[in-house]
Amino acid sequence: MASRPRVILDCDPGVDDAMALITAARFADLVGITTVAGNVELEHTTANACRMRELLGLEVEVHSGAAGPLVGDQAFAHNVHGATGLGDLVLPNPEKGPDSENAVDWLIETTRAEEGIHLVPVGPLTNVALALRADPQLTDRVASVTLMGGAAVGVGNVTSVAEFNVYADPEAAAEVFRSRAPLAMLGLNLTHQVRMGSAHSEVCAALGTQVGDAMAQLLEFYTVFHLAEEQVVDGPIHDPCAVLAVTHPDLFEVAERNVRVEIDGTLTRGMTVIDERGPRAAEPANCRVAYRAHAERVIELIMQAVREA
Ligand code: BDR
Ligand code: CA
Repeated sequence: MASRPRVILDCDPGVDDAMALITAARFADLVGITTVAGNVELEHTTANACRMRELLGLEVEVHSGAAGPLVGDQAFAHNVHGATGLGDLVLPNPEKGPDSENAVDWLIETTRAEEGIHLVPVGPLTNVALALRADPQLTDRVASVTLMGGAAVGVGNVTSVAEFNVYADPEAAAEVFRSRAPLAMLGLNLTHQVRMGSAHSEVCAALGTQVGDAMAQLLEFYTVFHLAEEQVVDGPIHDPCAVLAVTHPDLFEVAERNVRVEIDGTLTRGMTVIDERGPRAAEPANCRVAYRAHAERVIELIMQAVREA
């Protein structure tokens, strides 16, 4: 088998972050997990990462990071992910806690010790921005920063134009998009193409495994939320897309674009502004933006990850 990409997952579990961990455990060579406040408070995102580490039998370190954004107060998404982040899924308290509370230092040290790791942020970009502030050369050492966030068209899920991960720390996102890191962006325009719900949940439950049961409950909670709030039967499976964009890049169509983040707008704070003007673009491209997913294959791989966990 070809060697798997080495990946650090920076996450805020989070229902779909937990799915991203399941996916990464199967298809990536996971170097470590860093956590950030986002969907829920940092204590919960970190505990959930530790719970998922034990559920999946992962032998990797978990490092907790930023408890809030660079500027202002933390925005949460309790309505989407439940009070403590994994919906109705109750996993045992982890036997082992985080390996440190210094995610930013760990990111810097780990990428100094080994070049060519893919950094995959699927939460607010606070840890990544802080690491880049402390060590701007990090951009030269990583194979990519492949993030879930923003949207390639004016679509939002917090406001009409702002996606949660960017909205929750726009200043951090702006710094990351300005950093000259080898960026790839899986935004809402892409992740809304990848939808799962009750039918997939039933298949997972029928596996009769711990991971199958966990995935079934995550999907069930997510489906109920999306049906109630958005009148859609299947919910968008955001964060696993960023993992699979690294491990299975052929499943995604991307284009080089200039992306900037609006931090001042009265109506548009947290919007990713993408220059689609081709040769007339005001600035050079700084990001590979994903536009199309081979959604069926992406979903098959997520289901495979659950089956083979
Ligand atoms: C993103 O925001 C969070 O709620 C999800 O975990 C995902 O990372 C989608 O906008
Ligand atoms: Ca997330």
